[in-house]
Amino acid sequence: MYTQSFNVPDTDANAGSPLKSVPHDTALQAHFDAVVDADGKIEPRDWMPDAYRKTLVRQISQHAHSEIVGMLPEGNWISRAPSLKRKAILVAKVQDEGGHGLYLYSAAETLGTSRDQMFDALHSGKAKYSSIFNYPTLTWADVGVVGWLVDGAAIMNQIPLCRCSFGPYARAMIRVCKEESFHQRQGFESLMTMMQGTSEQKAMVQDAVNRWWWKCLAMFGPPDADSPNSVQGMRWGIKRISNDDLRQKFVDATVPQAEVLGVTLPDPDLKWNEARGHHDYGQIDWDEFWAVVNGDGPCNKERLATRVKAWNDGAWVRESALAHARKQEARAMKEAA
Ligand SMILES: [Fe+2]
Ligand SMILES: [Fe+2]
Repeated sequence: MYTQSFNVPDTDANAGSPLKSVPHDTALQAHFDAVVDADGKIEPRDWMPDAYRKTLVRQISQHAHSEIVGMLPEGNWISRAPSLKRKAILVAKVQDEGGHGLYLYSAAETLGTSRDQMFDALHSGKAKYSSIFNYPTLTWADVGVVGWLVDGAAIMNQIPLCRCSFGPYARAMIRVCKEESFHQRQGFESLMTMMQGTSEQKAMVQDAVNRWWWKCLAMFGPPDADSPNSVQGMRWGIKRISNDDLRQKFVDATVPQAEVLGVTLPDPDLKWNEARGHHDYGQIDWDEFWAVVNGDGPCNKERLATRVKAWNDGAWVRESALAHARKQEARAMKEAA
């Protein structure tokens, strides 16, 4: 999945970015600007400004981390899914998120960082990931709401990235967005089923919507006035639509879906504004957002500990794969000799 909030600074400004600077060259810079201005693609072997490369390494690696940490809140429900059908859907969705992480780590590697460096930044707590995954999934309805709202917000953020100026990122996003669309629909369909059930099931859905709504609005990142880096991201063709505009699109798209579902969105200020042609909405709690980004969410420690344990438990698999590769290589050399 997920989001703008990829442009929040890492704790260590150079986390995951071991890159050497390249000499500045006016002609190369002019060529780069011309390609970006013409909506062309910058490819890994092309010259690019240092700051562009570093921004992309940070954004793509934070995006990749968000995909694999995003597997955890829903993964908790695989063994407790209410039916075989729901379990199969959830397994497929969580595997998709793992796949998204892999495409994105590969895209970041083309910029000169290594997967080990990126994992090290994540596991040491230096790298950020989308703070939405630092909240718990308390009931089965949370799984549906995460699909409907969190994946829904992710789609809003990620569709413009299909036109990102950096080729490998843009191409990865095309497939990711198709899969996110399935994630959003399965969530909505699961909630629709619950809303046709007992009053307890309906209450469970409403409770989950109440807990996730504001956090999903915050996923689009700080207001435009507080996002000084966005202007540069727009200039580079990395960011196409501002945080506030994306948030507005999400609100406008989601309100009618909530009506179909039969749930209320927990915002007394939410109403259609005829003059603007958009919905108005209330104040987002940015203090909470930054507290969670900076490590004080309900599940930050748990998520990181789960990732580190998975990494450590998988050491023998990585070692075996490398030993096998070395053996194959030695055999090939021997046969070639
Ligand atoms: Fe994803
Ligand atoms: Fe997803």
